[in-house]
Parts: sequence; C-alpha cells; structure tokens
Amino acid sequence: MHEPERQAVLEQARLQLSERLARSDGGPELLEDICRILERTVPWYDWVGIYLVEGDELVLAAWQGPAATEHVRIPIGQGICGAAAREGQTIIVPDVREDPRYLQCFLSTRSEIVVPIIRDGRVLGEIDIDSDRLAAFGEDDRELLEWVAEALATRLHQLGAGAP
Ligand code: SME
Repeated sequence: MHEPERQAVLEQARLQLSERLARSDGGPELLEDICRILERTVPWYDWVGIYLVEGDELVLAAWQGPAATEHVRIPIGQGICGAAAREGQTIIVPDVREDPRYLQCFLSTRSEIVVPIIRDGRVLGEIDIDSDRLAAFGEDDRELLEWVAEALATRLHQLGAGAP
C-alpha cells in the first residue's frame, strides 16, 4: 500500500477509536469495539485480540477476525505475547517464521505486533495483531497502537484491572 493511503487508513482508524473511547462505558463491550474498529478499518490487520493479565497468564478478553485462536491463555514469558508482557515493550515481528518465540495460531500469519497496556509501570494486558502480509507493521502502526494502549490503560485502571 502506498504511503499516503496507509496514513489515511490509520488516521481513519484513529478517528473512529477516539469517538469510541470518548464514550464513557467500559468493560467487555469497549474491548470488543476496539478490536472491531481496528480489524475492519485497517486492511493489513487480519486478526486483532486484547489479552488481560490474570496472575501469571494472559487471558484473551476480546478478539475480532476470521477464526478463533486456541491460545486463549498464554503464560507470561511464552510466545511473542508473553515476551512483550514480560518486557513491557512493544514487539514487532516482521516474519513470524524466523522468530523462535512465535506461537502459531493461523497458518496464514506472516507478521505480528504486540503492544503492552501499561499503567504505573505494570502490564495490565496487551493488544495483539496478526497480519497475513510479511513485514506489515511499521512505526506508524506502533504509534497508533501505543496511543490506544495508553487510553485503554487509563480505562482498565478505572475498572480495577490488574489489581493484586
Ligand atoms: N502468536 C502469538 C500467540 C497469539 S495468536 O497470534 C492470536 C504469540 O506468539 O504469542
């Protein structure tokens, strides 16, 4: 996709996400809606999920895509998801076939981005996106998704997520 078109798509996603985040309701519908907006608006986001931390596991709280994943609970430290949660850092994998940490969900997946949702230095959860395109994710995706993660961190904190 040409650069200006890509930027327009991500800007469209940001607008829709802003509108949704401005509504004060929270809980599972908010997470479902965020996944839906991302998956429907951005053509290279083929599967979008939000995991929340429960103890020493990541538990799938909402997702949107063509098929369900078998990885509904991932121990922190396992997979790309578990690595991002342990490190508290966004991980972009341009080719999942080259990354030994990768836990496969879909045969068609080629690249992945995982963005932790962090509040006061604690990882509350993360946004996980799979793409069927090689090297689909760039700094522009990271910027958009870290912005969403920050907004979700505030909202989840208000809802008491990640409380000991
Ligand atoms: N690929 C992830 C597992 C989750 S699925 O992509 C939905 C990982 O390596 O942690």
